[in-house]
Amino acid sequence: MSARRLVIAIDGPAASGKSSTAKWVADRLGIRHVDSGALYRALTAAALRAGPAGGDWSEAEVLRHAGRVGLRPEGRGFAPLVDGAPAAEEIRAVEVTRHVSTVAAMPGVRAWVNAQVRAAADEHDVVVDGRDIGTAVFPDAALKVFLVADPWERARRRLIQRLERTPTEAEVAEETDRLVQRDARDATQTVPARDAVVVDTTYLTQEDQVERIVALARAVTHRPGDTSAG
Ligand code: CDP
Repeated sequence: MSARRLVIAIDGPAASGKSSTAKWVADRLGIRHVDSGALYRALTAAALRAGPAGGDWSEAEVLRHAGRVGLRPEGRGFAPLVDGAPAAEEIRAVEVTRHVSTVAAMPGVRAWVNAQVRAAADEHDVVVDGRDIGTAVFPDAALKVFLVADPWERARRRLIQRLERTPTEAEVAEETDRLVQRDARDATQTVPARDAVVVDTTYLTQEDQVERIVALARAVTHRPGDTSAG
């Protein structure tokens, strides 16, 4: 990485709130947000569009689609593109979520995503969220945060976001099961850096958690207080 750029790494397991937190923190600090998971998802979506193989792909087959995927600067972040068109909704589809961990376990895919993320961060101060940002992608990030939360609470939050209503207990139980299984599949690449600050968000509101990370960022960068309304 270019040594003079500010990099804040936010890592954590599925639905720990990384992306929304990273976006808010970037807004508050007036810097950019890069969502590494969006690239794994976009590549998976591109592979799914291409054929019915249903996830039974070799690394070479997946990487054949890399040229169809990219990030386009948009606002303070980047929009994921598949075949040149925005694919923000498609990459959150259940089918993509089902296959993304398999794709993300491929070393060549990880190297490709890491190169895209570093390129997106090259010219800017950034908040980058993912699983291995503080360990593999930017091991010298100025601030590393590892978000954790109780699986039940993560499942509840994800469902509220998806369904836009209060989920039933049965729905939360089922989603918790899915999250825990995905955590297991992603376990090798989801390890906090030794110098990460672990923030448990189970009992924090979104605003509190953003506030904490902004405070940590100010402490490491000595940036003046912000004047935004948040
Ligand atoms: O759904 P959630 O927000 O937890 O995941 P995401 O950040 O959109 O990432 C989707 C998937 O990409 C994860 O389940 C991982 O398999 C993979 N991923 C990864 O392996 N490394 C990263 N730095 C980011 C995502």
